[in-house]
Amino acid sequence: MILKNDLILRAAKGEDIERYPVWLMRQAGRILPEYREVRASLSGFKELVETPERAAEVTIQPVDLLGVDAAIIFSDILVVPEAMGLPYQMIESKGPWFENTVRTELDLKKVEFDFDVEDRLAYVLDAIKITNKELNGRVPLIGFAGAPWTILCYMVEGHGSKTFSESRKLLYTNPTLAHELLSRITKVTIQYLKAQIKAGAHMVQLFDSWAGILGTEQYAEFGLKYLEEIASAITEVPVTLFSKGAITSVEALAKLDCNTVGLDWNMDLVKIREQVGESRTLQGNLDPCALYSSHEEVQNLTNKLLDSFSSKRHIVNLGHGVYPDVDPEKVKTFVNTVKNYKIK
Ligand code: CP3
Repeated sequence: MILKNDLILRAAKGEDIERYPVWLMRQAGRILPEYREVRASLSGFKELVETPERAAEVTIQPVDLLGVDAAIIFSDILVVPEAMGLPYQMIESKGPWFENTVRTELDLKKVEFDFDVEDRLAYVLDAIKITNKELNGRVPLIGFAGAPWTILCYMVEGHGSKTFSESRKLLYTNPTLAHELLSRITKVTIQYLKAQIKAGAHMVQLFDSWAGILGTEQYAEFGLKYLEEIASAITEVPVTLFSKGAITSVEALAKLDCNTVGLDWNMDLVKIREQVGESRTLQGNLDPCALYSSHEEVQNLTNKLLDSFSSKRHIVNLGHGVYPDVDPEKVKTFVNTVKNYKIK
């Protein structure tokens, strides 16, 4: 299918663009009343994720309602640990909850990694196919997965945490077990991303949401090593690596075999551009809280961000997912400001 708008793919590959592409992490979700309506008609978040027609519907909503330059498939990074034998529940206003965790060799024995990914995660692949059919080439579709370190965090901890101290503890008490688990997650993730690409994902992003809780050396050993394995295995489409909070590792991250590096709002975009030159596309990085300011201020802050770019190799986004109570009208102001900006 021919894409009518392929700006984001050209920006990722470092090709010429007539304006910067823009999308938001978590754009398909609670900021939109239309999303909340679909979700309320089902038993909850998981049913939405597992029902391809409805997942496709909410994937397309931000394209229609916000005018973004890409869709991201509506799913969750936690479908991977579930496929590996650790089912989770999404508890309202609490977040994910896993019945079983992986903290010992015996636990690891029960973790599956040799299974048919296309079969077990068929609902995601079906959602991708339906989405592309309904998008009819309007914008590219982004596939995604959690990075191995972040997935390990949930498998070991069993739920969200500010410190993930059980997960970090394992790196000291049983690094061999941690590496074995990370290797297994990596193997499944490569198959999963390749399956998403085969189903129609035009680019893929890895979310390492908990990168920032590790020190530089530990992140190199338990984080970057596995991201490198995945990034070099994915040769079919552009790859984005987003390691939230990994301030001291961005330079090393940018050296991995990827097209785009996602930046959170604490990262110094100008300095990182100096470090990477024109070799990588940068994605980000307006503070998600900037969208709580007035429309005029959202415009000013967005223009200021764009004025700081010294290269065309940018994909505009927030520095993390959009917060659920942000006014969608403010998101539109952000999106429209980017779309009206003339590259100097
Ligand atoms: O629009 C999109 O970005 C696509 C959909 C998407 C979701 N989760 C839907 C979702 C994506 C890309 C994710 C990734 C994800 N999931 C990450 C990495 C990105 C990040 O935020 O750092 C992580 C860590 C998760 C795990 C997860 N999923 C948590 C911790 C929670 C609960 C916290 C919360 O925001 O409520 C979720 C739930 C979740 N995933 C929701 C959505 C829309 C909210 C569920 C709801 O509708 O009630």
